[in-house]
Amino acid sequence: MTEFVKLTYGDNEYELPVIVGSEGEKAIDISKLRSQTGLITLDTGYANTGSCTSNITFMDGEKGILRYRGIPVEQLAEHSSFKETSYLLINGKLPTQQELTNFSVLLNDNSLVHEDMRDFYEKFPRSSHPMGILSSMVNALRSFYPELQNLEEEINMTVTRLLSKIRTMAAMSYKISRGHRVVYPRADLTYCANFLNMMFDSPVKPYEIDEDVVKALNVFWILHADHEQNCSTSAVRLVGSARVTLYAAISAGIAALWGPLHGGANQAVIEMLSEIAANNSMAEIIKRAKDKSDPFRLMGFGHRVYKTFDPRMKIMKRMCDTLLQKLNITDPLLDVAMELEQIALKDDYFTDHNLYPNVDFYSGIVLRAIGIPTNMFTVMFAIGRLPGWIAQWKESQDDPNWKLCRPRQIYTGPQTTDYVPIEDR
Ligand code: CMC
Repeated sequence: MTEFVKLTYGDNEYELPVIVGSEGEKAIDISKLRSQTGLITLDTGYANTGSCTSNITFMDGEKGILRYRGIPVEQLAEHSSFKETSYLLINGKLPTQQELTNFSVLLNDNSLVHEDMRDFYEKFPRSSHPMGILSSMVNALRSFYPELQNLEEEINMTVTRLLSKIRTMAAMSYKISRGHRVVYPRADLTYCANFLNMMFDSPVKPYEIDEDVVKALNVFWILHADHEQNCSTSAVRLVGSARVTLYAAISAGIAALWGPLHGGANQAVIEMLSEIAANNSMAEIIKRAKDKSDPFRLMGFGHRVYKTFDPRMKIMKRMCDTLLQKLNITDPLLDVAMELEQIALKDDYFTDHNLYPNVDFYSGIVLRAIGIPTNMFTVMFAIGRLPGWIAQWKESQDDPNWKLCRPRQIYTGPQTTDYVPIEDR
């Protein structure tokens, strides 16, 4: 039976239906609020606003739960591959062996990037940030792969191209930024191994694929694969609501992810830890993070939804320990990170504000161990988030109730004012 919330406004009383999700989450349906009452809601930053219903990802920020299509992320990290998890997110179910094989064939068949695109890469200034390049190049893909007549075929091809080529494009931008020869994808390698090979193989030093590194990259990307209505996913849905191409919507998502409060935090964490290590400035950093008059924040700490440990962070930290041990690497930044975490977790400011380490706190140390340069960290996040963006975009496009996203506002500027000719100002 539908529950209702009663709203009294002026002399009238209104009943607003409460909708309930499959995990018991409740929301007041205000879709008729303005037409019935003349009111809109105001929710800066959307912290109390559900923008859609979705059956892709469930997270509980109080309990630290994250599931894709119902499957706990811990199980996927242990048993699945990034390719299989991508299939799960996009198609709504785990693939059979045959479906997974077909998916691999499709990805391999579409892994090359048009040779003419290399000219674009060559012309970006060497100092360009790889996220800016990736966002531009993903949008540029549309010019190289014009629309197919059959809509279903067009969507399937676009999804496959994006999932496969994003690795090639990311590795290509790294190689070209170093002035090195581009390494082409290989059909005999798995999704993650193929990317690592394109990044690190060289004519003078062939890349040796290490299965521990491949496993770590799979887990890294699985942990980033979706996170319901975060900033970049909301950007993909919002831009996609104007019925732009999937390339344009994903390009918008990449641009949003770049920000240091979102995916860019993984790069910012390493920069912060390096600064602490270089200047012995742990106390100073903590002091600055707590200072209301200083915009600085402890990077890799806090989350809009998680008010306890981020479940992805727990897996990432474990993986970080295991990987460093297996590769016999000692990273001084890991000690700095662990000390900083311990200090923050004992500090009233952080506990009172429910600030715990998030996925980005240890992810940079994993990426460093793999050999990824710091300015490529957020690109790694973007590759991981791509299946989530695609799944969310598809769900929004298929939704019979989906509309152009167009929020309203409360105007606070001047009331009608006459134009003043320039000589009278
Ligand atoms: N360091 C210091 N204080 C913080 C931090 C932090 N990292 N995060 C939040 N606060 C304080 C903030 O100053 C505010 O204090 P007060 O209430 O006294 O004014 C309070 O906590 C609430 O802050 P908020 O900005 O309203 O909270 P939010 O839910 O909008 O913030 C956040 C979420 C992720 C933007 C924020 O925690 C932050 O800036 N963290 C650092 C950047 C970061 O690590 N981002 C990666 C997020 S996880 C990866 C992803 O999904 O993108």
